[in-house]
Amino acid sequence: MSYEKIIEQNRKWIDETFAKLDKKLSVTAVKSRDKIPYTTKDGVHDDRSKDVHGWINGFWGGLMWLMYEATGNEDYKKTALRSEEIEDKAFEDVEKLHHDVGFMWHILAGANYRLTGNAEARNKNLFCAMSLMSRYNVEGDYIRSWNNWSKDDNTGWTIIDCMMNIPLLYWASDEIGDTRFKKIAMRYADMAMRDHVRPDGSVNHIVVHDTENPDVVIETLGGQGYGVGSCWSRGAAWALYGFVLSYIHTKEERYLDTAKKVAQYFIMNAESTGWLPLLDFRAPEEPVYYDSTAGAIAACGLIEIAKNCPEFEKNMYLSAAIKMLKAMEKEWCDWSDTNDSILQMGSERYGSGMHMPIIYGDYFFTEAVLKLRGSKFLPW
Ligand code: GLY
Repeated sequence: MSYEKIIEQNRKWIDETFAKLDKKLSVTAVKSRDKIPYTTKDGVHDDRSKDVHGWINGFWGGLMWLMYEATGNEDYKKTALRSEEIEDKAFEDVEKLHHDVGFMWHILAGANYRLTGNAEARNKNLFCAMSLMSRYNVEGDYIRSWNNWSKDDNTGWTIIDCMMNIPLLYWASDEIGDTRFKKIAMRYADMAMRDHVRPDGSVNHIVVHDTENPDVVIETLGGQGYGVGSCWSRGAAWALYGFVLSYIHTKEERYLDTAKKVAQYFIMNAESTGWLPLLDFRAPEEPVYYDSTAGAIAACGLIEIAKNCPEFEKNMYLSAAIKMLKAMEKEWCDWSDTNDSILQMGSERYGSGMHMPIIYGDYFFTEAVLKLRGSKFLPW
């Protein structure tokens, strides 16, 4: 069945879900204008605006830009701009910036620039791209992820999540016509293809590299998943969406092929649990832990694969995305006006912070619905 036909068959659900998103978000856009929400307490958005270097801080403003682009409602724009203003404090201490400047700024200041032409926002986003590029380790051939924590030396660590940060580099490359940004992004994608994605389509969250020899992987770590050798579902979703984005920005088939491989592994696992993704696809059967954020991110990637793959393959990826979104909408979305969050059952990591609403769940669920509705705005 063609892409368009599948969309038409689901048009009623897409339109109704978008209307529910707009109804709820147009209220919280005003109510939570001065906050950087992460989760909720007793149904009310919490506020992370004091932690200006937190990796999640772009999602609330980014969600507002998504909804502004879809509706033209100025309330969304006001809240997005306020979010960016709060986040500006992060530049007062640039040493604390890390690889997540893509998550934090590309969908915030970067979206501002792309939707409004704001020159100051463009400048900030370019600064972030330069900051991300400066984390490239020339001898080890990778972009360093985190800064050192108290007990760990993270110098040689890469995490699969960074596949979502490198679109900032593709953007900068095009924006100022300097291919160094794109080349380093591709170096990262090639490393992730080799060292993070396993032959069966499952994904390592953390890879520890020899800082001076690109051919040596010292070890892999379980990170936010169950353990070494397991498959943290959000990590798989970052890979799935991240690789198709790398394909979109470079047109290199190997990235689309990798996105498809991870997607097939993800689809197989999600289908086996009624399209409600587990927190880790390779963990003990009991207790059962879910992660809605993984499903929302993966749905975005599956839709982009469907748009970019040959005609006769589109059905599999698009139908899987819709089935997952519908299952999550039915089981996990809270459309009441007594809860500021929408998508419930997100999980931070295996063993803590599980089954709670998380702002990037709402962000990616909305991005996926807007894609199905026909939005041409690609925030990444
Ligand atoms: N990037 C961190 C996470 O996905 O939890």
